[in-house]
Amino acid sequence: MVTPTTLLNVSLLVKLVFGLKNERPPSLKVYQGTEATEGMFPSIGSVFLMDYQRGIRRCGATLIDYEWAVSAAHCFCNRTTGKPQNFLIANFIIGDVDYIIRSEWHQEASFEYIIHEEYNYTNDQNDIALLHLEPKLRTTEYVKPQKLSTSPIEEVKYGNCQVAGWGKKSETVQTTKLLYANLSLTNNSECEDMWNNFDSSTMLCAGSLESDACMGDSGGPLYCTKENSKEPEVVGIVSFGVSICEPSITGVYVKVSAYNEWIKDKTANASVLWIILSCVIGVIIIVLIVLLVIYKRRKNETEPNIYESMHARPNPSQYTRLT
Ligand SMILES: *[C@@H]1O[C@H](CO)[C@@H](O)[C@H](O)[C@H]1NC(C)=O
Ligand SMILES: *[C@@H]1O[C@H](CO)[C@@H](O)[C@H](O)[C@H]1NC(C)=O
Ligand SMILES: *[C@@H]1O[C@H](CO)[C@@H](O)[C@H](O)[C@H]1NC(C)=O
Ligand SMILES: *[C@@H]1O[C@H](CO)[C@@H](O)[C@H](O)[C@H]1NC(C)=O
Repeated sequence: MVTPTTLLNVSLLVKLVFGLKNERPPSLKVYQGTEATEGMFPSIGSVFLMDYQRGIRRCGATLIDYEWAVSAAHCFCNRTTGKPQNFLIANFIIGDVDYIIRSEWHQEASFEYIIHEEYNYTNDQNDIALLHLEPKLRTTEYVKPQKLSTSPIEEVKYGNCQVAGWGKKSETVQTTKLLYANLSLTNNSECEDMWNNFDSSTMLCAGSLESDACMGDSGGPLYCTKENSKEPEVVGIVSFGVSICEPSITGVYVKVSAYNEWIKDKTANASVLWIILSCVIGVIIIVLIVLLVIYKRRKNETEPNIYESMHARPNPSQYTRLT
């Protein structure tokens, strides 16, 4: 559903104001995908980035907690140097299936990103990043964090998988709607033959005969459901594929189960830092209050006000009249 006033989203607004150039074709779709319906993927969000040269970039990301989302490291790096980059605007947008129509479930947060320390831009090893959202998001039927996979794909049987994103629909077709495609995980050895940088301990492959993830989907989720379960898990993060998004060549995904510890570490550290910071602020406030009280007392001792001095030293003649 769409609110009567169809609002332009941040990117279009910014585009109108600044007249920007896009680094790549703007956002596109899951190649040969099918349109997703509202609430179908309540954890997928879109990352909107604008750099200081007013270049715009979009990626996907998945909400894993009310203040954390997971995405691909390469989304946040300079395309020439491969170094992490600063952005004028970095927003995470969730709840809408169409990225130019703001639905009533729309939520938005800015974020700081944390790129994996061993991310290698040359071979896309450890292509994972965490986004620390501010403010925290609210849970609704259409905005919900998703469970991360904790079991390596070699150890559990995953049935149906789906990739979703606002990437390219085909070489020529662009729409603004969220698309998804059913995929299946493919055999590692097949993928090793296809990609010489493929590392089965940290990456996985998925594909189908018709669909694939495509440019603009990067950072988005690959959801899979265990054979004996109904609840999908985030098994992969869209990392790389061929630029023409040819479905016969399988796409490569970050293997989420290899990063459970890293994610736990980073999200916990931030909470610990926050607790320490709150304690420090608390102590400073208490010290200030104590100093204020001491100061006031001193002031009272040295300069008693008239009112108090009148009562402290009553006129002796009044006592004599009472007795
Ligand atoms: C990327 O790095 C190059 C080389 O340092 C620099 O010229 C360019 O401005 C950077 N791009 C962005 C978008 O910051
Ligand atoms: C990144 O990967 C390239 C290609 O495999 C390799 O030559 C390079 O040493 C790696 N960089 C680091 C810092 O590991
Ligand atoms: C994806 O798979 C599910 C379950 O098998 C099926 O219900 C759905 O229609 C499929 N969607 C597409 C677009 O193929
Ligand atoms: C993957 O392919 C290799 C070689 O074709 C085969 O030996 C292996 O059993 C396959 N693994 C799976 C999980 O299908």
